[in-house]
Amino acid sequence: MFLVTGATGAIGRRVVRLLHQRKIPVRAFVRLTSHYSELEHREAEIFIGDLQQEKDIYKACQGIEYIISTHGSGRNTLAVDYRANIELIDQAKANGVQHFVLISVLGADRDYEDALVFKAKRAVEKYLATSGLNYTIFRPSGLASNLLPLGESFRHTGLYLLIGESKHRTSIVSTDDVAKMVVDCVNITAAQNQIFPVGGPEILMREDIPQIFGRIFNREPIIINPPLFLLDGLRGALGLFNPEEQQNLGTFRTLLASEFFCTPEEIANLESIFGFKLETLENFLSRYLAV
Ligand SMILES: NC(=O)c1ccc[n+]([C@@H]2O[C@H](COP(=O)([O-])OP(=O)(O)OC[C@H]3O[C@@H](n4cnc5c(N)ncnc54)[C@H](OP(=O)(O)O)[C@@H]3O)[C@@H](O)[C@H]2O)c1
Repeated sequence: MFLVTGATGAIGRRVVRLLHQRKIPVRAFVRLTSHYSELEHREAEIFIGDLQQEKDIYKACQGIEYIISTHGSGRNTLAVDYRANIELIDQAKANGVQHFVLISVLGADRDYEDALVFKAKRAVEKYLATSGLNYTIFRPSGLASNLLPLGESFRHTGLYLLIGESKHRTSIVSTDDVAKMVVDCVNITAAQNQIFPVGGPEILMREDIPQIFGRIFNREPIIINPPLFLLDGLRGALGLFNPEEQQNLGTFRTLLASEFFCTPEEIANLESIFGFKLETLENFLSRYLAV
């Protein structure tokens, strides 16, 4: 039995779908407030809980052989990205789990001081790697599925908001490809006890994304490109009355200010270990957004 956390999220939902297609039993950890009816239709065993509650994690891990941690916090980084994963790893050990798969983030090892999520992911990676469990850690760059809502609004307006440096490089990855690697890794010897940077097959510049939308929808993009210092100004002002939110924006700023791409060697390594060709961003977006 697999336990999937973040089962209603972009990666988690796809992981549950794949496990269901392969007729592998899966327990989906969801919140009562989550939209989880699709998971029920896929015959997942629904476990309702909150990852901020240790007793829920304890109960969810009973009788589990594999854990796939795909949840993300949005805001509660310390409790959800950090503590919940530490507790999941401890419970995995207590229950003799055979393999623990963690979704981290590309750049987790770059010591970004201002990005709490990156710091939390790195701390969890280290804890897992020294836990004695079999593990695989994936560090994806941006997920292609994040762009789907932007594509929908582009379809109607032709507008694309690009904050900060338009020439920065990125290797946005197909969320479907990530889910496939996540499910496959437990059966691939070369993926045991490894950390994989994960990106799409091409290194793009951020300004290429509206051009891709332009081709898909056959309309000229109108790019709005405010400089990053405007966000800094807003963040400074926000900090005067909401320091917590100011801190949360640090991760967002880091994502906008830095480059996140994989080298051709890293992509070739993934394709060789997992045995399939990674999908381009344009292909992913066309499949989901095609008119
Ligand atoms: N998005 C990206 O571009 C990107 C890039 C690199 C790495 N990652 C990492 O990849 C992983 C998956 O990202 P994603 O975009 O697929 O996630 P997502 O769509 O944002 O989903 C987050 C999931 O976590 C669940 N969750 C949050 N707090 C919870 C709590 N207290 N108890 C139980 N469940 C909780 C959410 O449940 P609800 O449905 O109830 O909200 C949801 O299922 C995350 O670890 C993220 O940090 C993402």
